[in-house]
Parts: sequence; structure tokens; C-alpha cells
Amino acid sequence: MPLPLAELFPDEDYRFHLTLRKGDLAEFFASPDPAALAERRVWLERDFARYGAATPAAGALLDELATWTEQNVGGIGAIDRAPTESWLGPLGRTLVPDFMLLTREGAGFRLHAAMVCFPSSWEPAAKVGLDLDAIHQVVPGLNVSLGATIGQFLGKLRPGVAYERANWGLAASPERNLHPALGRPRLALPLAMDRIWVRIEDQILGVLPATGAILFGIRLRIIPLTDILAEPKLRCGFRRALATLPDELAAYKGLATVREALVARLA
Ligand code: HEM
Repeated sequence: MPLPLAELFPDEDYRFHLTLRKGDLAEFFASPDPAALAERRVWLERDFARYGAATPAAGALLDELATWTEQNVGGIGAIDRAPTESWLGPLGRTLVPDFMLLTREGAGFRLHAAMVCFPSSWEPAAKVGLDLDAIHQVVPGLNVSLGATIGQFLGKLRPGVAYERANWGLAASPERNLHPALGRPRLALPLAMDRIWVRIEDQILGVLPATGAILFGIRLRIIPLTDILAEPKLRCGFRRALATLPDELAAYKGLATVREALVARLA
């Protein structure tokens, strides 16, 4: 169940949070979205390596995800595949959500496979093989304030129970795929209120029982900002979050040049 917008934009100053709710992995991965699935197939056809990548150690994790997918989502068992071919491609063309697979490694977690056709301005292939702390290093303040809590939470995850959370951002484009290589428009002045979209990443985290791999799924909601602003409570929560974002985080989120004008516009 997607996080209600009122919980995403509470009347509170911005802070990093885990805010987890129990979720259902099978439901998250099996809920249909024909338009998103059709679009992801186009991107994979156009430039697979940009969106899908895996380490040499990912084979067993992808094998287990393929079995899990056949049991819980369907549509992959009949795929004609050479025995040596990775499941990454077939999974990417079958599953609606973007997904990543991580393993526990020492005190941390390493990303072994990514199939992300709709990234929010980051490069999926460049992250594969990295430790989660290194991946989050580019998010100013995240590791310091929440890194240990994220690690504890992931370390306690067990098969059978999954958790959902959400992140939000703003974009100057309603496109799902904001891979940096595509040069999508960035938010800029003068503000065009009808050319700003709120981009919500609904995320789920669960564990595959045999390999113990952490499965991270992402689905997108893209909503015109004007829809959010039309609801007084959401408008108030959104304005407060925007006004209280630390400067470095606002810059990371691509808001540095527009934040002040946007906050003023919402007064
Ligand atoms: C479980 C708790 C987690 C929390 C609270 C969390 C939080 C965040 C936050 C706040 C951001 C910045 C997004 C924004 O403000 O626009 C972020 C970015 C990101 N996170 Fe996480 N995250 C979590 C787990 C994960 C996991 C398991 C992965 C898997 C690899 C992951 C991969 C990423 C990536 C790739 C980015 C974008 C980095 C970039 O811009 O280069 N996160 N995360």
C-alpha cells in the first residue's frame, strides 16, 4: 500500500527518516502497470547496460529471484533462455518495479545487481559492486544521521516480513526515466508551476530465504505539484519541508536555484 501523501508531507521540519510500514513483497511486485512495463522494455532494448548491471557473484541471487518471481508473479518460467544467460534481462522485462539485490558483507551491505530503468537522476550501473554506505555517500548528511539505523534495520530483516518506505523529490519533467545521460530538464527560474512534478519513490525491502539476499523494489508515483498544492494540509507540509531542507541537501535534490522562489510562492 503506497504511503498516504499526508504522511509524506507532515507538518514537520524536514528530517531523514526510516518510517517503515509492513508490506507484502508479492503484492508489490505483482501489481500490474502495463504502461510502466512497456516503457521499461523500450529502455532495456535501447541501452540495456545503462539500466541493468550485476557483479559476477550475483548469479545465485538472480536465480533465486527468478524462482521467486515465477512463484509469486508468473510470466518468467516459459522464457527461452540459454543456460549460461543471466536472469537479469528476463527479470527486467517481466517485473514492473525497478529492483536491486544486496548481500550482507561484514558490517555492511553490498549491491550485487541493479535493474533500474527509472532512476531519479543517478546512474544504476555505476553503483553495482559498491557498499551501501558508499552509495549513500553522495546524499549529504544521510550516513551520519541515519546510516547506523539503516544498517541495523537491514541486518534484522528476515524472510517472510517486508517493509515499505518512501522518498520524494521534485522534477522538471514528468518522465519516469531521469537517467543523467538523457539530459532531462532541471528545475530552473523563472518558476513554471505547471512544469514541476513531485516524484515519489515507493520502496519495499525484503529478504529471499535461500541466499538471504535483500530485495529492494521501487515503484514511482509522478504527481503534478499543483495537485499537491491544491490540498491545504499537503501544501503546508510541503512548504515546511522545502523551507527547512538543509542547503546541501537542497542542492543534492536539484533544488538549490528554485527553493527560495518556490517557498515564497507558497506563502
Ligand atoms: C532502508 C533504508 C534506506 C533509507 C532511509 C534510504 C534513504 C535514502 C535517501 C534519503 C536518499 C536521498 C533521496 C533524495 O532525497 O532525493 C537515498 C538515495 C539513494 N539510495 Fe537509499 N535509503 C535506504 C536504503 C537503500 C538501499 C537498500 C539501497 C540499495 C542500493 C539504496 C540506494 C540508494 C540510491 C542508489 C540512492 C541515490 C544516490 C545518488 O543520487 O547517487 N538505498 N536513500
